[in-house]
Amino acid sequence: MKIGILTGGGDCPGLNPAIRGFVLQSLDYGYDVYAIREGWRGLVKGIVDDRPLSISDVEELIWQGGTVLRSSRTNPYKDPEQLEAVRTNIQRYGFDCIAALGGEDTLGVASKLYHDGIVNTVGIPKTMDNDLSETDYTFGFDTSVGVDVDAVDRLRDTARSHMRIIVLEVMGRHAGWVALYTGIAGGADWILLPEVPLDLDAMCEHLKTAYARKKYGIVVASEGVELPHIDESTAERDAFGHVILGDRNVGEYIADEIEKRTGIETRAAVTGHIQRGGRPSAFDRVLATRCGIRAAQCVHEGDFGKMVAIKGTEIVAVPIERAVGTLKTVPVELYESIKTLFNK
Ligand code: F6P
Repeated sequence: MKIGILTGGGDCPGLNPAIRGFVLQSLDYGYDVYAIREGWRGLVKGIVDDRPLSISDVEELIWQGGTVLRSSRTNPYKDPEQLEAVRTNIQRYGFDCIAALGGEDTLGVASKLYHDGIVNTVGIPKTMDNDLSETDYTFGFDTSVGVDVDAVDRLRDTARSHMRIIVLEVMGRHAGWVALYTGIAGGADWILLPEVPLDLDAMCEHLKTAYARKKYGIVVASEGVELPHIDESTAERDAFGHVILGDRNVGEYIADEIEKRTGIETRAAVTGHIQRGGRPSAFDRVLATRCGIRAAQCVHEGDFGKMVAIKGTEIVAVPIERAVGTLKTVPVELYESIKTLFNK
């Protein structure tokens, strides 16, 4: 069996441990796993190693952030010529199966390639956004939240010294999981999510009350919060049609509004791509390793068109198309259920 492995979309901590798990399990079956570099672009352009990955290539990947396979946001379904190149390269390299590690976009391509009869695929879900359906968690999320909570702890020190409010903008696209978990774990005074309409009056009233008591404040804002002045129809988009959210400067906008409305000096900070690098947490290493191993087992069982997923404590296999159909956003009821944190 000749398998190609690739990572697509935004990287996140856990990709390398997942690659390691997949390759180690595949070696047990006697399969050859070839590195396809740079995501789907590697299949379009034929950026494929000329020898299979060995134990030495992967055994030390457990603690490394990023992806040794490199990544891109290439969408071969956007351009018929690229899709044809993918088809040709799959035949040229003789791949029996492609293992794709990615979020909804990368896995969406894997699902289509399988259903269009172009190649057998298995999917391994990753994203710091934690917004993939059909899996309770994606690796990358836990590490990113850890980075952001550390940032909040640091910002609280300086906010308290200078009697300021500080707004931390975090990633997460259109799902507020990173902001929600960071805000709860960091003890924020207010959390802004894309799923909950922006209520600047309510937030500022609460910040004034909290400030009167402790002389500082912390707000965690998701980059995807809907802002009244932004017209998304003209915004820059990636190959999958997603708006590039970092350009909206949510943190700066919220900080300005808070300062205007409360008269309290306010600053904004952004963790940005710092959230995406660094050593994966123990949780992400374990989840990624288990996902990698399970995906190789799917290949061995001929269980194609599937994505591995964690449900409770079990790693299961689900049809990829079920996972990529709808985003897993934060239920508003979950946000409502923690409102006691913001009413004192
Ligand atoms: O999807 C992962 C993610 O980190 C989002 O949270 C963020 O909006 C986006 O990627 C940033 O993309 P890029 O690395 O291409 O700027």
